[in-house]
Amino acid sequence: MPQKARFRSAEWFGSADKNGFMYRSWMKNQGIPDHEFDGRPIIGICNTFSELTPCNAHFRKLAEHVKKGVLEAGGYPVEFPVFSNGESNLRPTAMFTRNLASMDVEEAIRGNPLDGVVLLTGCDKTTPALLMGAASCDIPAIVVTGGPMLNGKHKGRDIGSGTVVWQLSEEVKAGKISIHDFMAAEAGMSRSAGTCNTMGTASTMACMAESLGVSLPHNAAIPAVDSRRYVLAHLSGNRIVDMVKEDLRLSRVLTREAFENAIRTNAAIGGSTNAVIHLKAIAGRMGVELELDDWNRVGRGTPTIVDLQPSGRFLMEEFYYAGGLPAVLRRLGEADRLPHKEALTVNGQTLWDNVKDAPLYNDQVIRELDNPLVDDGGMCVLRGNLAPKGAVLKPSAASPELMRHRGRAVVFENFDDYKARINDPDLEVDADSVLVMKHCGPKGYHGMAEVGNMGLPAKLLAQGVTDMVRISDARMSGTAYGTVVLHVAPEAAAGGPLAAVENGDWIELDAYDGRLHLDVDEAELERRLSASDPTEASRRIASSGGYRQLYIEHVLQADEGCDFDFLVGCRGADVPRHSH
Ligand code: FES
Repeated sequence: MPQKARFRSAEWFGSADKNGFMYRSWMKNQGIPDHEFDGRPIIGICNTFSELTPCNAHFRKLAEHVKKGVLEAGGYPVEFPVFSNGESNLRPTAMFTRNLASMDVEEAIRGNPLDGVVLLTGCDKTTPALLMGAASCDIPAIVVTGGPMLNGKHKGRDIGSGTVVWQLSEEVKAGKISIHDFMAAEAGMSRSAGTCNTMGTASTMACMAESLGVSLPHNAAIPAVDSRRYVLAHLSGNRIVDMVKEDLRLSRVLTREAFENAIRTNAAIGGSTNAVIHLKAIAGRMGVELELDDWNRVGRGTPTIVDLQPSGRFLMEEFYYAGGLPAVLRRLGEADRLPHKEALTVNGQTLWDNVKDAPLYNDQVIRELDNPLVDDGGMCVLRGNLAPKGAVLKPSAASPELMRHRGRAVVFENFDDYKARINDPDLEVDADSVLVMKHCGPKGYHGMAEVGNMGLPAKLLAQGVTDMVRISDARMSGTAYGTVVLHVAPEAAAGGPLAAVENGDWIELDAYDGRLHLDVDEAELERRLSASDPTEASRRIASSGGYRQLYIEHVLQADEGCDFDFLVGCRGADVPRHSH
């Protein structure tokens, strides 16, 4: 029986005419009876399952639990695949396809009979990609994350995804462990389904989703293999049906206030620098103004109280058992440090209502505000003649003694140059040098690779050096650490001043004052920039055509979220919620 015209899907299934016949008839080849077309909400389950995205490889089962919840609440679930950009396999970097995936999501929602969507997110870029696509359509949407892996285990100790790779590879270079020991850690690091178990980008973005209010409480931290993850999927399936009935669209949740809550949360959890780029891109799709300086204004002064790797000691499993993100938000709120308690979340309650009674079981993992891991964990936004449009540094991952530093530049023209020379015994470098790498920004490395945490020269590691100031237009894995200045904008390949740095130039970093200065006068800088063409490499990449050309020609700089210029802004008005 054709459905009564009410929800958006009625535009497809609600009429007793030739069009309605066609839309229903083809769907019926899946064994759908007439009564399923009676006007109930059609809920899309946007699935990033892929065996090439190992962090999301358990999502078929997750989707089954969402379906149970949707059916139980009186909706009809339809699962659909979207581009899945996994961090570990995809070259040149999963970031290169974040915008592509978001376009897939947007057009899949826009073009299909969907009244609401459940976004199955996990590996780093899948969370922003799906939120960006759904935000562009502004329909009711709820995030269900795949959850983190269990703690890695190696030689009787816990090891963290990614973080241990950086640690052990430096220990091999320094001659402290054998290559055999290094290889033996592989299987132990990733021993269950799920995303990286450190506070890397996947866990950070899951926490961002929860603090933005677009997921149910505890979505961020329940381990992937914990049965409560499936309960959360089921309840999210229940809830999205009611969200459609309440017309609770993303624009009512993803407000300016929600982004400020997320920025504050990022500081408290010691979250990934990648969140700076992704939150800007999501906000841009929603039409919310969010600037780099908002990270200074809202985030600075906030202590990091979550003691997780890479900044601290524990892993996501302990984070969940300690109380998870609700306990962190409660701790912030009780100290009047949650900026907008009244922000609406997808369950219809305010953020504060969701967390005000949250239990907290372990003060070592989620520390007291007056006993933090880092006193001021807010992202440092840096500016100066080396980064006129900004750069970022994560203080909880940096060495306090290097936060103010003056040193001579050791310059690498690109990542290949870095790899070729970093371990050269004749490289002129000492512990006070500043490693500078160019051409790894959005256009320079088409996608902005996570190579900013350049490994240190082997000869310095052998001397016991463990950290140096490093500067680039690249990103850094959320699992990495060090005194690393990232996201320098404009990037070298866009003609930014980074392109003009030469070996031996003095560079001053003052992370406390937000200053990044190249000690070269303006006239000399201009002379150097005009003597070369830093955009040549990216033009060569674009000349191969295809998506790479689209990417290079339209990607915005890091301070603008690396979205495509033509995708910014909400196009939800083109996606009417109810049929007429
Ligand atoms: Fe997928 Fe880390 S590689 S979450």
